Amino acid sequence: MFYSSKKISRIFQTPKSKIAQKEDLKELIETFSLPSLHKDQDGESHGTGYNTQDLPLLGQHLGFLNKPDHSQVISVFVTKGGVLKTSLTLNLARMAALHNIRTLVIGLDMQCDITSAMGVVSDVSNSENLKTAMSEIDRVKGLSDYFYERCELPDIIVKSDIPTLDVIPETPELVAVEQSLLHKAKRESWLKEKVIEPIKSEYDLFVIDCSPNWNQLITNALTASDLLISPLECKINNYRNFQMFRSFIEEFIDEMGLKLQHIYVPTRFTQSRKLSKEIRNWYFSEISNCIPVAIKDSVVGEEATAMKVSVPEYQPGSDAALEVNEILNLIWDRMKKKSSPFNKTHNSLIPEANA
Ligand SMILES: Nc1ncnc2c1ncn2[C@@H]1O[C@H](COP(=O)(O)OP(=O)(O)O)[C@@H](O)[C@H]1O
Ligand SMILES: [Mg+2]
Repeated sequence: MFYSSKKISRIFQTPKSKIAQKEDLKELIETFSLPSLHKDQDGESHGTGYNTQDLPLLGQHLGFLNKPDHSQVISVFVTKGGVLKTSLTLNLARMAALHNIRTLVIGLDMQCDITSAMGVVSDVSNSENLKTAMSEIDRVKGLSDYFYERCELPDIIVKSDIPTLDVIPETPELVAVEQSLLHKAKRESWLKEKVIEPIKSEYDLFVIDCSPNWNQLITNALTASDLLISPLECKINNYRNFQMFRSFIEEFIDEMGLKLQHIYVPTRFTQSRKLSKEIRNWYFSEISNCIPVAIKDSVVGEEATAMKVSVPEYQPGSDAALEVNEILNLIWDRMKKKSSPFNKTHNSLIPEANA
Protein backbone atom coordinates (compact mmCIF):
# COMPACT_ATOMS: atom_id res chain seq x y z
CA MET A 1 0.00 0.00 0.00
CA PHE A 2 1.03 3.59 -0.65
CA TYR A 3 0.39 6.24 2.02
CA SER A 4 0.54 9.97 1.37
CA SER A 5 2.42 12.06 3.95
CA LYS A 6 -0.92 13.32 5.30
CA LYS A 7 -2.14 9.76 5.85
CA ILE A 8 1.15 8.70 7.43
CA SER A 9 0.81 11.41 10.09
CA ARG A 10 -2.72 10.32 10.85
CA ILE A 11 -1.82 6.63 11.18
CA PHE A 12 0.25 7.62 14.22
CA GLN A 13 -2.24 10.13 15.59
CA THR A 14 -3.71 9.71 19.08
CA PRO A 15 -6.49 11.81 20.66
CA LYS A 16 -3.84 13.81 22.50
CA SER A 17 -1.17 14.13 19.84
CA LYS A 18 -0.61 16.97 17.43
CA ILE A 19 -0.84 15.95 13.77
CA ALA A 20 2.60 16.04 12.18
CA GLN A 21 2.79 18.31 9.14
CA LYS A 22 4.68 17.56 5.94
CA GLU A 23 7.53 19.84 7.13
CA ASP A 24 7.79 17.79 10.36
CA LEU A 25 8.09 14.58 8.32
CA LYS A 26 10.74 16.14 6.10
CA GLU A 27 12.71 17.19 9.16
CA LEU A 28 12.53 13.68 10.63
CA ILE A 29 13.58 12.18 7.30
CA GLU A 30 16.58 14.49 7.13
CA THR A 31 17.60 14.10 10.78
CA PHE A 32 17.54 10.31 10.67
CA SER A 33 18.58 9.92 7.00
CA LEU A 34 15.40 7.99 6.14
CA PRO A 35 14.28 7.21 2.59
CA SER A 36 12.79 10.37 1.10
CA LEU A 37 9.08 10.80 0.40
CA HIS A 38 8.32 9.71 -3.16
CA LYS A 39 5.47 9.54 -5.60
CA ASP A 40 3.18 6.52 -5.75
CA GLN A 41 4.77 4.20 -8.32
CA ASP A 42 1.34 2.93 -9.39
CA GLY A 43 0.36 6.57 -9.83
CA GLU A 44 -2.93 6.35 -7.97
CA SER A 45 -2.08 8.97 -5.39
CA HIS A 46 -0.96 12.46 -6.45
CA GLY A 47 1.08 13.54 -3.42
CA THR A 48 4.30 12.05 -2.11
CA GLY A 49 4.55 9.45 0.62
CA TYR A 50 5.83 6.01 1.60
CA ASN A 51 4.96 2.41 0.82
CA THR A 52 3.98 0.11 3.72
CA GLN A 53 7.44 -1.47 3.88
CA ASP A 54 9.11 1.91 4.58
CA LEU A 55 6.61 3.03 7.23
CA PRO A 56 8.36 1.43 10.26
CA LEU A 57 11.44 3.63 9.76
CA LEU A 58 9.33 6.75 10.08
CA GLY A 59 6.91 5.27 12.63
CA GLN A 60 9.77 4.70 15.05
CA HIS A 61 10.28 8.48 15.30
CA LEU A 62 6.78 9.71 14.57
CA GLY A 63 4.76 7.19 16.56
CA PHE A 64 3.74 6.82 20.18
CA LEU A 65 4.79 3.24 21.05
CA ASN A 66 8.28 2.63 22.40
CA LYS A 67 10.30 -0.44 21.68
CA PRO A 68 10.27 -2.53 24.91
CA ASP A 69 13.65 -2.79 26.69
CA HIS A 70 13.30 -6.56 26.87
CA SER A 71 11.18 -8.55 24.48
CA GLN A 72 7.61 -8.91 25.70
CA VAL A 73 5.07 -11.68 25.19
CA ILE A 74 1.41 -10.71 25.00
CA SER A 75 -1.46 -13.19 24.85
CA VAL A 76 -4.95 -12.16 23.78
CA PHE A 77 -7.33 -14.57 25.46
CA VAL A 78 -10.75 -14.85 27.07
CA THR A 79 -13.14 -17.79 27.05
CA LYS A 80 -15.54 -16.25 24.56
CA GLY A 81 -15.60 -16.01 20.76
CA GLY A 82 -16.53 -12.98 18.67
CA VAL A 83 -15.25 -10.46 21.24
CA LEU A 84 -12.47 -9.04 18.97
CA LYS A 85 -9.53 -11.14 20.21
CA THR A 86 -8.24 -11.65 16.69
CA SER A 87 -9.01 -8.08 15.59
CA LEU A 88 -7.16 -6.73 18.62
CA THR A 89 -4.20 -9.03 17.91
CA LEU A 90 -4.09 -7.77 14.32
CA ASN A 91 -4.29 -4.10 15.32
CA LEU A 92 -1.74 -4.44 18.09
CA ALA A 93 0.75 -6.44 16.02
CA ARG A 94 0.54 -4.27 12.87
CA MET A 95 0.73 -0.99 14.76
CA ALA A 96 3.68 -2.23 16.86
CA ALA A 97 5.45 -3.35 13.69
CA LEU A 98 4.80 0.06 12.08
CA HIS A 99 6.66 1.57 15.07
CA ASN A 100 9.67 -0.52 14.01
CA ILE A 101 9.05 -2.93 16.89
CA ARG A 102 10.06 -6.37 15.61
CA THR A 103 6.90 -8.40 16.11
CA LEU A 104 6.02 -12.08 15.76
CA VAL A 105 2.39 -13.18 15.80
CA ILE A 106 1.74 -16.75 16.92
CA GLY A 107 -1.67 -18.15 16.03
CA LEU A 108 -3.04 -20.77 18.43
CA ASP A 109 -6.63 -21.04 17.26
CA MET A 110 -7.56 -24.02 15.06
CA GLN A 111 -10.01 -21.71 13.28
CA CYS A 112 -6.97 -20.00 11.72
CA ASP A 113 -8.52 -16.50 11.87
CA ILE A 114 -5.33 -14.55 12.58
CA THR A 115 -3.51 -16.53 9.88
CA SER A 116 -6.11 -15.38 7.33
CA ALA A 117 -6.18 -11.85 8.78
CA MET A 118 -2.41 -11.56 8.39
CA GLY A 119 -2.82 -12.29 4.69
CA VAL A 120 0.34 -14.39 4.57
CA VAL A 121 -1.31 -17.49 3.20
CA SER A 122 -2.76 -17.04 -0.26
CA ASP A 123 -6.48 -17.41 -0.75
CA VAL A 124 -6.94 -20.75 -2.51
CA SER A 125 -10.66 -20.42 -3.12
CA ASN A 126 -10.04 -19.05 -6.65
CA SER A 127 -7.30 -21.52 -7.55
CA GLU A 128 -7.21 -22.79 -11.12
CA ASN A 129 -7.75 -26.37 -10.08
CA LEU A 130 -7.85 -28.69 -7.10
CA LYS A 131 -4.24 -29.79 -7.51
CA THR A 132 -2.82 -26.24 -7.23
CA ALA A 133 -5.16 -25.44 -4.35
CA MET A 134 -4.08 -28.56 -2.46
CA SER A 135 -0.38 -28.01 -3.03
CA GLU A 136 -0.77 -24.41 -1.78
CA ILE A 137 -2.52 -25.67 1.36
CA ASP A 138 0.16 -28.32 1.94
CA ARG A 139 2.90 -25.70 1.48
CA VAL A 140 1.89 -23.90 4.68
CA LYS A 141 3.86 -25.18 7.64
CA GLY A 142 2.83 -24.50 11.22
CA LEU A 143 3.67 -25.34 14.82
CA SER A 144 2.79 -29.01 14.33
CA ASP A 145 5.51 -29.49 11.70
CA TYR A 146 8.05 -28.14 14.18
CA PHE A 147 6.55 -29.97 17.16
CA TYR A 148 6.80 -33.33 15.37
CA GLU A 149 10.32 -32.44 14.19
CA ARG A 150 9.47 -32.39 10.50
CA CYS A 151 11.23 -29.03 10.12
CA GLU A 152 13.25 -26.40 11.96
CA LEU A 153 11.81 -23.37 13.76
CA PRO A 154 12.78 -20.79 11.06
CA ASP A 155 10.88 -22.89 8.49
CA ILE A 156 7.53 -22.11 10.12
CA ILE A 157 8.04 -18.34 10.36
CA VAL A 158 6.36 -16.45 7.52
CA LYS A 159 7.05 -12.84 6.50
CA SER A 160 4.30 -10.26 6.05
CA ASP A 161 3.98 -7.05 4.01
CA ILE A 162 5.64 -5.15 6.91
CA PRO A 163 9.36 -6.00 7.25
CA THR A 164 9.10 -5.93 11.07
CA LEU A 165 6.10 -8.30 11.22
CA ASP A 166 6.22 -12.09 10.93
CA VAL A 167 3.77 -14.84 11.78
CA ILE A 168 3.74 -18.50 12.74
CA PRO A 169 0.58 -19.57 10.92
CA GLU A 170 -2.12 -21.78 12.34
CA THR A 171 -2.87 -25.09 10.69
CA PRO A 172 -5.63 -27.58 11.57
CA GLU A 173 -2.94 -29.96 12.94
CA LEU A 174 -2.81 -27.74 16.05
CA VAL A 175 -5.48 -30.13 17.36
CA ALA A 176 -2.93 -32.94 17.35
CA VAL A 177 -0.25 -30.78 18.99
CA GLU A 178 -2.69 -29.91 21.76
CA GLN A 179 -3.31 -33.59 22.45
CA SER A 180 0.37 -34.56 22.23
CA LEU A 181 1.33 -31.81 24.68
CA LEU A 182 -0.76 -33.58 27.33
CA HIS A 183 1.73 -36.43 27.36
CA LYS A 184 4.87 -34.32 27.42
CA ALA A 185 7.00 -33.59 30.47
CA LYS A 186 6.86 -29.88 31.40
CA ARG A 187 3.91 -29.72 29.04
CA GLU A 188 2.92 -26.15 29.89
CA SER A 189 6.28 -24.64 28.99
CA TRP A 190 6.88 -26.13 25.54
CA LEU A 191 5.94 -22.93 23.69
CA LYS A 192 8.08 -20.78 25.97
CA GLU A 193 11.14 -23.02 25.91
CA LYS A 194 11.08 -24.39 22.39
CA VAL A 195 9.52 -21.59 20.37
CA ILE A 196 9.88 -18.23 22.10
CA GLU A 197 13.19 -18.50 24.01
CA PRO A 198 15.28 -19.59 20.98
CA ILE A 199 14.21 -16.52 18.96
CA LYS A 200 13.78 -13.99 21.76
CA SER A 201 16.71 -11.90 20.57
CA GLU A 202 15.17 -11.59 17.10
CA TYR A 203 11.88 -10.02 18.22
CA ASP A 204 10.85 -7.21 20.56
CA LEU A 205 7.29 -8.42 20.81
CA PHE A 206 5.41 -11.71 20.54
CA VAL A 207 1.62 -11.53 20.20
CA ILE A 208 -0.32 -14.76 20.67
CA ASP A 209 -3.87 -14.98 19.33
CA CYS A 210 -5.72 -17.60 21.37
CA SER A 211 -8.84 -19.69 20.81
CA PRO A 212 -11.78 -19.16 23.18
CA ASN A 213 -11.43 -22.73 24.46
CA TRP A 214 -9.12 -23.29 27.38
CA ASN A 215 -6.77 -26.06 26.30
CA GLN A 216 -3.13 -27.08 26.57
CA LEU A 217 -2.08 -24.50 23.95
CA ILE A 218 -3.64 -21.71 26.02
CA THR A 219 -1.88 -22.94 29.16
CA ASN A 220 1.35 -22.74 27.14
CA ALA A 221 0.56 -19.22 25.94
CA LEU A 222 -0.19 -17.99 29.47
CA THR A 223 2.96 -19.59 30.86
CA ALA A 224 5.03 -17.78 28.24
CA SER A 225 3.34 -14.38 28.65
CA ASP A 226 4.27 -11.12 30.36
CA LEU A 227 0.88 -9.60 29.65
CA LEU A 228 -2.57 -11.09 29.14
CA ILE A 229 -5.20 -8.99 27.37
CA SER A 230 -8.80 -10.14 27.76
CA PRO A 231 -11.43 -8.42 25.63
CA LEU A 232 -14.81 -8.10 27.38
CA GLU A 233 -17.79 -7.31 25.22
CA CYS A 234 -20.22 -4.73 26.56
CA LYS A 235 -23.13 -7.13 26.31
CA ILE A 236 -25.18 -8.73 29.04
CA ASN A 237 -24.71 -12.26 27.67
CA ASN A 238 -21.10 -11.92 28.73
CA TYR A 239 -21.92 -11.62 32.43
CA ARG A 240 -21.74 -15.25 33.59
CA ASN A 241 -18.87 -15.97 31.30
CA PHE A 242 -16.86 -13.07 32.73
CA GLN A 243 -17.41 -14.13 36.37
CA MET A 244 -16.36 -17.68 35.60
CA PHE A 245 -13.36 -16.57 33.55
CA ARG A 246 -12.14 -14.15 36.20
CA SER A 247 -12.12 -16.68 39.00
CA PHE A 248 -10.56 -19.35 36.75
CA ILE A 249 -7.76 -17.14 35.47
CA GLU A 250 -6.89 -15.75 38.90
CA GLU A 251 -6.70 -19.26 40.32
CA PHE A 252 -4.56 -20.41 37.40
CA ILE A 253 -2.10 -17.50 37.72
CA ASP A 254 -1.88 -18.13 41.47
CA GLU A 255 -1.41 -21.88 41.23
CA MET A 256 1.17 -21.68 38.47
CA GLY A 257 2.99 -18.83 40.23
CA LEU A 258 2.98 -16.78 37.02
CA LYS A 259 4.29 -13.24 36.95
CA LEU A 260 1.70 -12.05 34.52
CA GLN A 261 0.11 -8.65 34.10
CA HIS A 262 -3.56 -8.91 33.21
CA ILE A 263 -5.76 -6.26 31.67
CA TYR A 264 -9.31 -6.25 30.38
CA VAL A 265 -10.32 -4.28 27.29
CA PRO A 266 -14.05 -3.55 26.87
CA THR A 267 -15.17 -4.21 23.28
CA ARG A 268 -18.26 -4.10 21.09
CA PHE A 269 -19.58 -1.05 22.89
CA THR A 270 -22.72 0.55 21.43
CA GLN A 271 -23.05 4.16 22.51
CA SER A 272 -26.76 4.36 21.68
CA ARG A 273 -27.70 1.43 23.91
CA LYS A 274 -28.31 2.20 27.57
CA LEU A 275 -27.53 -1.33 28.69
CA SER A 276 -24.26 -1.37 26.76
CA LYS A 277 -23.27 1.91 28.42
CA GLU A 278 -24.16 0.62 31.88
CA ILE A 279 -22.15 -2.52 31.37
CA ARG A 280 -19.15 -0.54 30.09
CA ASN A 281 -19.36 1.81 33.08
CA TRP A 282 -19.57 -1.15 35.42
CA TYR A 283 -16.40 -2.58 33.88
CA PHE A 284 -14.68 0.81 34.29
CA SER A 285 -15.65 1.24 37.93
CA GLU A 286 -15.52 -2.31 39.28
CA ILE A 287 -12.63 -3.98 37.47
CA SER A 288 -9.45 -2.22 38.51
CA ASN A 289 -7.39 -3.81 35.74
CA CYS A 290 -9.84 -2.71 33.04
CA ILE A 291 -8.57 0.02 30.72
CA PRO A 292 -10.74 3.17 30.68
CA VAL A 293 -11.56 3.14 26.94
CA ALA A 294 -13.90 0.77 25.09
CA ILE A 295 -13.72 -0.35 21.47
CA LYS A 296 -17.00 0.60 19.77
CA ASP A 297 -18.89 -1.64 17.43
CA SER A 298 -18.07 -0.09 14.06
CA VAL A 299 -18.21 -0.82 10.37
CA VAL A 300 -14.70 0.67 9.99
CA GLY A 301 -13.36 -1.81 12.57
CA GLU A 302 -15.02 -4.70 10.81
CA GLU A 303 -13.85 -3.58 7.35
CA ALA A 304 -10.24 -3.07 8.48
CA THR A 305 -10.03 -6.67 9.73
CA ALA A 306 -11.61 -7.89 6.50
CA MET A 307 -9.02 -5.85 4.54
CA LYS A 308 -6.27 -7.47 6.67
CA VAL A 309 -4.94 -4.18 8.07
CA SER A 310 -5.20 -2.25 11.33
CA VAL A 311 -7.90 0.39 11.75
CA PRO A 312 -5.36 3.29 11.78
CA GLU A 313 -3.97 2.07 8.44
CA TYR A 314 -7.43 1.51 6.96
CA GLN A 315 -8.94 4.85 7.93
CA PRO A 316 -6.20 7.05 9.40
CA GLY A 317 -7.49 9.76 11.71
CA SER A 318 -11.03 8.34 11.97
CA ASP A 319 -12.69 8.06 15.40
CA ALA A 320 -12.22 4.28 15.28
CA ALA A 321 -8.52 4.72 14.47
CA LEU A 322 -7.95 7.22 17.29
CA GLU A 323 -9.72 4.82 19.66
CA VAL A 324 -7.41 1.95 18.68
CA ASN A 325 -4.30 4.14 19.11
CA GLU A 326 -5.49 5.36 22.50
CA ILE A 327 -6.03 1.77 23.63
CA LEU A 328 -2.59 0.71 22.41
CA ASN A 329 -1.09 3.63 24.31
CA LEU A 330 -2.83 2.46 27.50
CA ILE A 331 -1.67 -1.12 26.95
CA TRP A 332 1.93 0.11 26.58
CA ASP A 333 1.59 2.16 29.77
CA ARG A 334 0.46 -0.93 31.59
CA MET A 335 3.34 -2.98 30.18
CA LYS A 336 5.78 -0.49 31.70
CA LYS A 337 4.14 -0.67 35.16
CA LYS A 338 5.34 -4.14 35.97
CA SER A 339 5.06 -3.74 39.69
CA SER A 340 1.35 -2.92 39.97
CA PRO A 341 -0.46 -5.74 41.75
CA PHE A 342 -2.81 -8.10 40.04
CA ASN A 343 -6.41 -7.14 40.72
CA LYS A 344 -8.09 -9.46 43.19
CA THR A 345 -11.42 -7.77 43.81
CA HIS A 346 -14.54 -9.81 43.26
CA ASN A 347 -17.62 -7.76 42.60
CA SER A 348 -20.97 -8.83 41.30
CA LEU A 349 -21.99 -7.30 37.98
CA ILE A 350 -25.18 -6.22 39.72
CA PRO A 351 -24.41 -3.09 41.77
CA GLU A 352 -24.85 -3.60 45.54
CA ALA A 353 -27.68 -1.09 45.86
CA ASN A 354 -29.80 -2.98 43.31
CA ALA A 355 -28.88 -6.49 44.43
N1 LIG B 1 -14.85 -2.53 15.92
C1 LIG B 1 -15.57 -3.56 15.45
N2 LIG B 1 -16.91 -3.51 15.47
C2 LIG B 1 -17.65 -4.54 15.01
N3 LIG B 1 -17.15 -5.67 14.49
C3 LIG B 1 -15.81 -5.77 14.43
C4 LIG B 1 -14.96 -4.73 14.91
N4 LIG B 1 -13.68 -5.13 14.74
C5 LIG B 1 -13.75 -6.35 14.18
N5 LIG B 1 -15.01 -6.75 13.99
C6 LIG B 1 -15.51 -8.02 13.43
O1 LIG B 1 -16.07 -8.83 14.48
C7 LIG B 1 -15.92 -10.21 14.18
C8 LIG B 1 -15.37 -10.97 15.37
O2 LIG B 1 -14.10 -10.46 15.69
P1 LIG B 1 -12.85 -11.39 16.04
O3 LIG B 1 -11.71 -10.47 16.23
O4 LIG B 1 -12.69 -12.47 15.01
O5 LIG B 1 -13.30 -12.04 17.40
P2 LIG B 1 -12.68 -13.30 18.23
O6 LIG B 1 -11.29 -13.49 17.77
O7 LIG B 1 -12.79 -12.90 19.67
O8 LIG B 1 -13.56 -14.47 17.91
C9 LIG B 1 -15.01 -10.28 12.96
O9 LIG B 1 -15.78 -10.56 11.84
C10 LIG B 1 -14.41 -8.89 12.87
O10 LIG B 1 -14.12 -8.51 11.55
MG1 LIG C 1 -10.30 -15.18 17.04
